[in-house]
Amino acid sequence: MLHFFLYMAFSLSKTAFFSLSAFFSLFFIFFINQSLSLYRDLWSQSQEPLLSKNPTPPISPIPKPLSPEVPEQPQNVEEEGGFGFSCSVNNNTQLVGNAKEEALEADNKTQLVGIENEAVEENNKTQLVGNENEEALEENNKTQLVGNENGGNGVLKEVNLGRKCDLYNGSWVKDEGHPLYQMGSCPYIDDAFTCHDNGRPDSDYTKWRWKPNDCDIPRFNGTDFLERLRGKRLMLVGDSMNRNQFESLLCLLHESLPDKTRMYETRGSKISKGRGYFIFKFKEYDCTVEFCRSHYLVKEGTRLISPGKTRPTLSIDRIDKSANRWKRADILIFNTGHWWAHGKTSKGKDYYKEGDVIYPQFDPVEAYRRAMKTWGRWIDENLNPSKMLVFYRGYSSAHFRGGDWDSGGTCNGEKEPIMSGAFLDSYPQKMMIVNEVIRAMKFPVVLLNVTRLTNYRKDGHPSIYRKTPSKKPVSSRRQDCSHWCLPGVPDAWNELIYASLVMQQRPSWNQT
Ligand SMILES: *[C@@H]1O[C@H](CO)[C@@H](O)[C@H](O)[C@H]1NC(C)=O
Ligand SMILES: *[C@@H]1O[C@H](CO)[C@@H](O)[C@H](O)[C@H]1NC(C)=O
Ligand SMILES: *[C@@H]1O[C@H](CO)[C@@H](O)[C@H](O)[C@H]1NC(C)=O
Ligand SMILES: *[C@@H]1O[C@H](CO)[C@@H](O)[C@H](O)[C@H]1NC(C)=O
Ligand SMILES: *[C@@H]1O[C@H](CO)[C@@H](O)[C@H](O)[C@H]1NC(C)=O
Ligand SMILES: *[C@@H]1O[C@H](CO)[C@@H](O)[C@H](O)[C@H]1NC(C)=O
Ligand SMILES: *[C@@H]1O[C@H](CO)[C@@H](O)[C@H](O)[C@H]1NC(C)=O
Repeated sequence: MLHFFLYMAFSLSKTAFFSLSAFFSLFFIFFINQSLSLYRDLWSQSQEPLLSKNPTPPISPIPKPLSPEVPEQPQNVEEEGGFGFSCSVNNNTQLVGNAKEEALEADNKTQLVGIENEAVEENNKTQLVGNENEEALEENNKTQLVGNENGGNGVLKEVNLGRKCDLYNGSWVKDEGHPLYQMGSCPYIDDAFTCHDNGRPDSDYTKWRWKPNDCDIPRFNGTDFLERLRGKRLMLVGDSMNRNQFESLLCLLHESLPDKTRMYETRGSKISKGRGYFIFKFKEYDCTVEFCRSHYLVKEGTRLISPGKTRPTLSIDRIDKSANRWKRADILIFNTGHWWAHGKTSKGKDYYKEGDVIYPQFDPVEAYRRAMKTWGRWIDENLNPSKMLVFYRGYSSAHFRGGDWDSGGTCNGEKEPIMSGAFLDSYPQKMMIVNEVIRAMKFPVVLLNVTRLTNYRKDGHPSIYRKTPSKKPVSSRRQDCSHWCLPGVPDAWNELIYASLVMQQRPSWNQT
């Protein structure tokens, strides 16, 4: 019954989706000229340094008179995809470094003290945070038989998904069954992450499996994953880290398809950082896996500072425009974080906006908190927990040795995960804010708490292998120690998504 309902809802939303697409395509063509000139403006804005050297001390917001605003112009944030809802504003700045992130986190410890208590306001909802979801785990308080696809000659392995197992407390172990797809076998990895093709000589970084201390996670089964997605839409929403994870998921599912032609991007788009929206259809399963770019999850905009000249703003009290798309998904996986270390975002000068007010100076950490609350409120008001599943993936620190990304910081030559050290115990302030917001929400968002396990993996970054060798060689001063090679670390995030789907049985979920 429910299945039928979901199917109907899905079909209807498809119809609506395509009419909207057609309408906005026309809209886009009409405004393309204006778009291009605005693009140039935005593009020149993006040339400022990505990271400011000195963290701005927190300053209380002082409203100032409203600067003249560029009128609402959806086309000015549109991209060449031709859809009315952009999944992002800029398609030109790629954030490579995020060393500033840590500076922001270290910023003001005293502010943090109250968070844990403040947020626990006697919420009686079920909170699905890893092992804390007693209800979901109870149903799985049994021994499951999970096959070992690659390594085990079909030998079944017992996996105990006991209720006391914290999926995120564990270690990386060498595993001959990894990677789950071979290097060079997946057509969906964009240049920036194809480290092997870009000349990275070592491959040990692909051979690690995340092992929780107190249990094993079920081995990834792409066929089973797709069965669970049947008739549904899964959408990743966020920045390029989520595109990184999106590509990993496509590769994992691609690997399981006997006929690879049964999977395709619905508009034939090739994945690149230039586009903000992708829909991959899996024909046999009538399901899609989608990526919708939204760097901040809240609304980016522009203000006019002089005739013909605009500056970006960020409305921390309004949800991103692409939220209309989010509603159509059945499973959502969000992230944000790295862009909050970006120059204008971390400086917070004449940038953050609430209502009609643009703050001359605003603390970026507080801005992040308010933006996350805006996101949480939107989910509570717009999404139905009995029909949808929402994940928030915790972000990962970058691994720059000897400087920031733009001042010679490197991670090249790292061949092993970090095995010990105080570094591993740090839990970033932004993640505490995420915890605080999720706890206060009605909707039971699943926190994919990968921050710490990802921190171990200093060996997994593209470093200098972030471009194909035929292109201009990468300066060693501009290494990528933020994103991840594929196959690699994001595969483990998706294995944890899979584990969550297997372990979590919502009353209305998976009914036939
Ligand atoms: C941290 O925040 C507290 C209280 O909000 C403030 O008194 C203090 O000056 C801040 N410290 C720094 C280093 O910004
Ligand atoms: C628990 O939540 C339900 C539904 O949201 C509400 O009706 C009830 O009053 C809540 N109980 C407590 C103790 O807060
Ligand atoms: C779960 O397992 C424990 C110990 O293995 C057992 O005592 C308990 O009865 C089980 N609960 C359910 C609901 O199966
Ligand atoms: C993977 O899942 C499919 C569908 O549920 C199942 O038929 C198959 O046996 C599983 N493969 C392994 C190796 O467990
Ligand atoms: C992690 O797991 C180990 C082994 O089960 C346990 O001793 C330790 O207390 C756990 N750590 C946390 C933070 O739960
Ligand atoms: C946006 O991306 C498209 C496609 O990759 C590219 O042609 C265009 O130049 C980009 N726009 C800017 C301003 O970089
Ligand atoms: C996430 O994991 C970290 C360490 O691994 C832990 O300190 C933190 O409490 C966890 N967060 C939640 C919400 O469980």
